[in-house]
Amino acid sequence: MSRHVLLCEPSHFRIAYEINPWMNQRVPVEGPRALDQWHGLREVLVDLGVRVELVGQRSEVPDMTFTANAGVVIGDRFVPANFRFRERQAEQPYFREWFAARGYEVYDIHEPHYWEGEGDVLAAPDDPALVCGGYRFRTERGALDHLEAALGVPVLRLELVDPRYYHLDTCLCPLGRGRAMVVREAFAPESFRALAEAFDDLIEVPPADAARFACNALVVDDRVVLDAGCDDTERALRARDLVPVPTPTDEFLKSGGSVKCLVLQLDAFVSASSS
Ligand code: ARG
Repeated sequence: MSRHVLLCEPSHFRIAYEINPWMNQRVPVEGPRALDQWHGLREVLVDLGVRVELVGQRSEVPDMTFTANAGVVIGDRFVPANFRFRERQAEQPYFREWFAARGYEVYDIHEPHYWEGEGDVLAAPDDPALVCGGYRFRTERGALDHLEAALGVPVLRLELVDPRYYHLDTCLCPLGRGRAMVVREAFAPESFRALAEAFDDLIEVPPADAARFACNALVVDDRVVLDAGCDDTERALRARDLVPVPTPTDEFLKSGGSVKCLVLQLDAFVSASSS
């Protein structure tokens, strides 16, 4: 749905370590540019009618701006992630605090598995019961069992095989009405077959756009917010009567993230038991 989201202004965003193949400490972030791009994204979302909530970034957690990894929100429950890398584990108390202070029930499911929130768990925008879960690099397969129980709907488990596409939201974007954008080589062959069964129309993103994180997009009705410069993908979307909304995010690509990583959806999942 993406009508209500949580963002974190990148006031302390930088490449302070390397935990994915895109991060290189010798290619630093240009801070003011990153801030401009983030404000641009925020404006795009507000213009699309999305309600934007904010959590403040703490200086010791440079990747906290990627709120998608905080966890998942299921109705009035916040299910916190259990970050794989120590470098990001320190974000967790801040997200827990933010949700607890707003009346969310903080519901832990992860023990003893690691998993990274919406980075690896995506619902179709028009069908909260069609949930895809990626595993291997940042999320353990076993964590998806717990998540399935919390969601009350089956999770389509997808094995990621390419370290460049280490989170599911870097290589899959469900678009609604049976369509999805996908990076084929990111998936184990069996998982790609499962995707082809679950979706009627798989739009395979070409390598150059894949590497610009074209799949790391946010869907708001018929609009698809994605990194500026994914021309082939924009054409493919337009051919399906979707409206691409390009916005520059190259400073965040340096950290292995783009539009979707910068957004945690507060309304993507519903609790099957309460509905
Ligand atoms: N540098 C961050 C990391 O490696 C980027 C996170 C991107 N987030 C995402 N949802 N794909 O953890």
